[in-house]
Amino acid sequence: MWDERFNQDAYVYGEEPNTFLAQLWQELELAERSGPVLCLAEGEGRNAVHLADLGHEVTCVDLSRVGLDKAEQLAGRRGVNIQTVHADLGAYTPEPDTFAAVVMIFAHTPPQVRQHSLKMARQALKPGGYLILEGYTEDQIGRGTGGPGNPEMMFSQAELEQVFAGDEIVLAREIEREINEGLFHTGVGAVVQFVARKV
Ligand SMILES: C[S@@+](CC[C@H](N)C(=O)[O-])C[C@H]1O[C@@H](n2cnc3c(N)ncnc32)[C@H](O)[C@@H]1O
Repeated sequence: MWDERFNQDAYVYGEEPNTFLAQLWQELELAERSGPVLCLAEGEGRNAVHLADLGHEVTCVDLSRVGLDKAEQLAGRRGVNIQTVHADLGAYTPEPDTFAAVVMIFAHTPPQVRQHSLKMARQALKPGGYLILEGYTEDQIGRGTGGPGNPEMMFSQAELEQVFAGDEIVLAREIEREINEGLFHTGVGAVVQFVARKV
């Protein structure tokens, strides 16, 4: 499905980064910090390319080869390097204690894959590293402004707080906000925004 969706000239979630991610990055002054960044389910690469543009060493992982090829093309056009990894998050396990930040933006997958990827994201962080996540919640179902139609694929604050219990929760909220990012995120959406710092 994802290869088909991405198989067009347009970047279907746009070429600009997710606005929550870009704003958070500034607020936490993450551009000042060194250390590699991992973007999970990164699709066509808009977030990875933005972070590479800020000077980070970025690895992005996705199931869609078509998406990753577009990510590499976007990076080329912007004159930055990103590393792409073609993998299923259900099985992907990077080196532990490696990344200064892990980014998950609308990284919707079935529950087992989501649970694996959240635990793996935490493991992949260095102590002091940040998870930054935005995703739709169950309240998004039926709005028609983006995200999967299946409630099992949605994120929740409660699940995220469970995985990162024991870490510093920097931000955790379920809100409605206007999202206009490409062809498929097109209006007010119900999202969880979550930032945790690994202890
Ligand atoms: C809504 S898109 C978000 C893309 C990107 N994070 C962004 O914000 O533009 C969801 C992405 O999840 C990827 N994906 C879905 N299931 C996956 C899995 N099991 N493993 C890796 N990537 C997956 C899709 O290929 C797609 O690129």
